[in-house]
Amino acid sequence: MKAYVYKKYGPPEEVKSIEREIPSPKENELLIKVKAIGLNPLDYRIRRGSLRPFTNFNFPRQTASDFSGEVVEVASENSSFKTGDLVYGMVFQLKSGASAEYIISKEDYLFHAPESIKLEDAASVPLAAQTSLQALRDLGQLKKGMRVLINGASGGVGVFAVGLSKIFEAHVTAVTSYRNISLVKKLGADDVVDYTKDDFTQRKETFDIIFDCWGNKNFNIAKDNLTSSGIYISTIPNSKNFFSSFKTSFASKRGKVVLVKSKKEDLAYLKNVIESGDLKVIIEKTFFQDEIVEAYKHLESKRTKGKIIVVLS
Ligand SMILES: NC(=O)c1ccc[n+]([C@@H]2O[C@H](COP(=O)([O-])OP(=O)(O)OC[C@H]3O[C@@H](n4cnc5c(N)ncnc54)[C@H](OP(=O)(O)O)[C@@H]3O)[C@@H](O)[C@H]2O)c1
Repeated sequence: MKAYVYKKYGPPEEVKSIEREIPSPKENELLIKVKAIGLNPLDYRIRRGSLRPFTNFNFPRQTASDFSGEVVEVASENSSFKTGDLVYGMVFQLKSGASAEYIISKEDYLFHAPESIKLEDAASVPLAAQTSLQALRDLGQLKKGMRVLINGASGGVGVFAVGLSKIFEAHVTAVTSYRNISLVKKLGADDVVDYTKDDFTQRKETFDIIFDCWGNKNFNIAKDNLTSSGIYISTIPNSKNFFSSFKTSFASKRGKVVLVKSKKEDLAYLKNVIESGDLKVIIEKTFFQDEIVEAYKHLESKRTKGKIIVVLS
């Protein structure tokens, strides 16, 4: 089979196609014929070597966490999946990536793909949408009527965060640039702050949740914009954010860090809200397998509106 791998840490050009053996699934695993992969900043952080202590092994490495595809082999006799099922999910990229014609996935990390969108488009959902869901619903305890600010509202995580906040009937303030004001309004944002002209932390407004999915603020910068029991949630797992989270564990205003995990219950929830039309999937551009380097260059420009996918078959 064809696999898209890098043999050393470096720029997008390190990702090249090679021939590999088709892997075999073990107990609780499935063999998936990959339709498409979804790209995320985690992919280039790992590829550049930023997570080196955890990834210093097993070159050539496949890239990407997100995938959609078809189940072609089931290892467990009592599996809830069968061959021919169309699925979407996330692999644990610190071990191995999804960028190959066939991959192994644990059954717990995937679910049946939403039927209302193309199978390839479903690859854009798992990591970014589960990040937003787990941050807002689980860490933020998002409820109807809450005031939520989403910093980085036009990116992969942000577009799902706006959509999910509206499903929970929250009031949404989206922070984006002039380039994406119409996009976030279309997704339901009630207010928009153009960060190129205005800094939300200089305003007097307060929020129940500040979801910093772009990551250029931190708890100390944003705390005056939290209500008395407000929560700041960052997607950036650095020492400063972990320290704020630890320090504010029992405080009224808290700082938290989201670390996404793929869960079939969450993928099932997302399938439902996508099929009902309540959650929109925004794909800026679809690339094909021989364009994977271009696709990563596009993502690494940091200007992506929603998501980027690469179709592999
Ligand atoms: N901890 C976790 O589990 C987890 C999970 C997912 C993602 N993350 C992290 O979260 C971050 C965002 O991920 P993503 O997939 O959403 O990234 P992305 O799709 O690459 O984000 C691109 C978007 O960011 C916007 N942006 C750029 N500069 C900005 C700024 N100064 N203020 C506000 N928005 C700005 C851009 O809008 P404009 O063109 O309008 O500027 C663009 O639409 C990444 O660092 C990623 O690694 C962490």
